[in-house]
Amino acid sequence: MEPIPRSRHPYFERLLEFRAHAWDQSSGDIPIGRWAEFFPKSTKKIVYEIGCSNAQFLCEIAKANPHVGFVGLDWKFKVLYRGAQRIAAEQLKNVGLIRGLVQNSNHFFSENEVDEIWIFFPDPWAKVAQLKNRIMNETQLVQLAKLLKPGGRIYFKTDHPGYYQWVHALFGQPLPRVGHYDPLADAQVKAGARSRRIKQVKVRLPAGSLRGDIPPESVLLKRVFEFEYAATLPAEEFGSSSCFTSHKTLFEKVFEKEGLPGYGIQLLRNSESANRIHD
Ligand SMILES: C[S@@+](CC[C@H](N)C(=O)[O-])C[C@H]1O[C@@H](n2cnc3c(N)ncnc32)[C@H](O)[C@@H]1O
Repeated sequence: MEPIPRSRHPYFERLLEFRAHAWDQSSGDIPIGRWAEFFPKSTKKIVYEIGCSNAQFLCEIAKANPHVGFVGLDWKFKVLYRGAQRIAAEQLKNVGLIRGLVQNSNHFFSENEVDEIWIFFPDPWAKVAQLKNRIMNETQLVQLAKLLKPGGRIYFKTDHPGYYQWVHALFGQPLPRVGHYDPLADAQVKAGARSRRIKQVKVRLPAGSLRGDIPPESVLLKRVFEFEYAATLPAEEFGSSSCFTSHKTLFEKVFEKEGLPGYGIQLLRNSESANRIHD
């Protein structure tokens, strides 16, 4: 693996104050392959939260679940630094934080090291030209699948109906009904559907539709994951085997206050695919 160049952000140095439990993605001492040793001996599973922001949500859950080890990732220095301060103040031993990009996740964990991955309210990148930035894409999900133990899960939550449908399409699932959502009402999506940019993201338009925001199904993803469960939230079954269900993220609370629905998708890494992801 190519080393990641170090950032010149002023908070890079400040984060070093918390080197006992927080790292930058370029640090050589991230306990990759050794997270079980970093966490207390009683740790039963390891959870990786992508886009943890200031780790308030993660710390709340970590306090309530001392036998779970949590690793939070965010690419914003300042919020991650606040999270590192919080962990120190609360003396939490079961949380580690990384300042970095999800795209570099293979620098943070070795294969089969993680039990659960949480991706809650990631940026929806709703305009057609931005769709390629979505975290829930084939390349990213295959990379994350390698870090998951066979039988591990990805939990995804979003407030964005189009993103919810997008993940269904990736897995060849019928598009769910999502209330009043009309992608064609979004001028940028509408204009983009007719532009060359659509061809670049290789979007197949369903017959008779201008849905330029829907990706083609991925055969690889369908092999690696089982599309286990999807629902409008709150839903009892969603995340029922995990420990986050009684806690809401910052964004979730904001959307709820505004009366907006949330959506959840649960993906199970197929045990059978354990040795076949490299195919
Ligand atoms: C919309 S916020 C959601 C925060 C939190 N999960 C919640 O539900 O309240 C998305 C977070 O993901 C982080 N983020 C966005 N793209 C990222 C990337 N490529 N790698 C790591 N973090 C990223 C942002 O910095 C931001 O804190």
